[in-house]
Amino acid sequence: MHAVGIDIGGTKIAGAVIDEDGAILDQRRTPTPAGDAAAVEDAVVEMIESLRVSTPVSSVGIAAAGFVDAARSSVYYAPNISWRNEPIADRVEARTGLPVVVENDANAAGWAEFRFGAGQLVSDMVMVTIGTGVGGAIITEDRLFRGGFGAAAEIGHMRVVPGGLPCGCGRFGCFEQYGSGRALQRYAEQIAAEPGEDGRGFRAAIEANGSLNGGLIAQLTSAGDPGAIRALRELGTWIGEGCASLSAVLDPQMFVIGGGVAQSDALLLGPIVEAFEASLPARGHHPEPRFEIAQLVNDAGVVGAADLARSRGTGRG
Ligand code: BGC
Ligand code: NA
Ligand code: ZN
Repeated sequence: MHAVGIDIGGTKIAGAVIDEDGAILDQRRTPTPAGDAAAVEDAVVEMIESLRVSTPVSSVGIAAAGFVDAARSSVYYAPNISWRNEPIADRVEARTGLPVVVENDANAAGWAEFRFGAGQLVSDMVMVTIGTGVGGAIITEDRLFRGGFGAAAEIGHMRVVPGGLPCGCGRFGCFEQYGSGRALQRYAEQIAAEPGEDGRGFRAAIEANGSLNGGLIAQLTSAGDPGAIRALRELGTWIGEGCASLSAVLDPQMFVIGGGVAQSDALLLGPIVEAFEASLPARGHHPEPRFEIAQLVNDAGVVGAADLARSRGTGRG
């Protein structure tokens, strides 16, 4: 039976009807309403209703950027949106009459890559999503790892810098303050503010467009701009070092790098792998994971959420 997958991001909500093989039959997109959780809920319900008109569906999976509870029903906390103990599944179930499963956004994306994308041939995989925040999904022995209370794989909040930058989680020095799309923007702005040659491309882009954004940075990197390549290298170095620590703990066969930044900038993979190799503990004495760019890019969240909804959130491969 078909299922609806919804992916709630900071800027847009994506929704799709997905079949058993992970194929998209129909899809919608709408900007994430500013303001309260109720407006987001209304937009989600509206999207589900509009999707089910043409195609009968049996369940709904919602991917959300936050700490999700073990029952896959509410969001405990979302560092980059204003959700606190948000019982989203119950609310949407009551309004649509469909069973709803909530999943962390990166978990949903990682599950989609494992089932239908880059990770199909491995049993142990770590997905790292590089966007506004840094998300993670851990697949071990063909299962999505949820931890004891549901909120495992919050790799964006590993502390990488003692006393470092403040984070939306309430702590300081988290991985996502150094390895996210926002961090890339900060590196770019720092390089633009330097007096030297490297900032030239960024300064010209700021002059022409008012400010920098991910798309402009990606354009400059693919054009070979030295400042942009430096900024991307800085980002990749943090991510590669983080992956080396994760590798020591989880020993995956593969890392899948996804999220908006990886998608617009495949050049990110080089610096990630370099930093990973330079910091992997006991390198040369044990097998090493492969690094791949995510295959389902924009659609991973909706595809994974729908697939998890169909299996009632079990996450077993
Ligand atoms: C959140 C995660 C989320 C990630 C990517 C982090 O700030 O804590 O729950 O998966 O951002 O959206
Ligand atoms: Na996660
Ligand atoms: Zn944090």
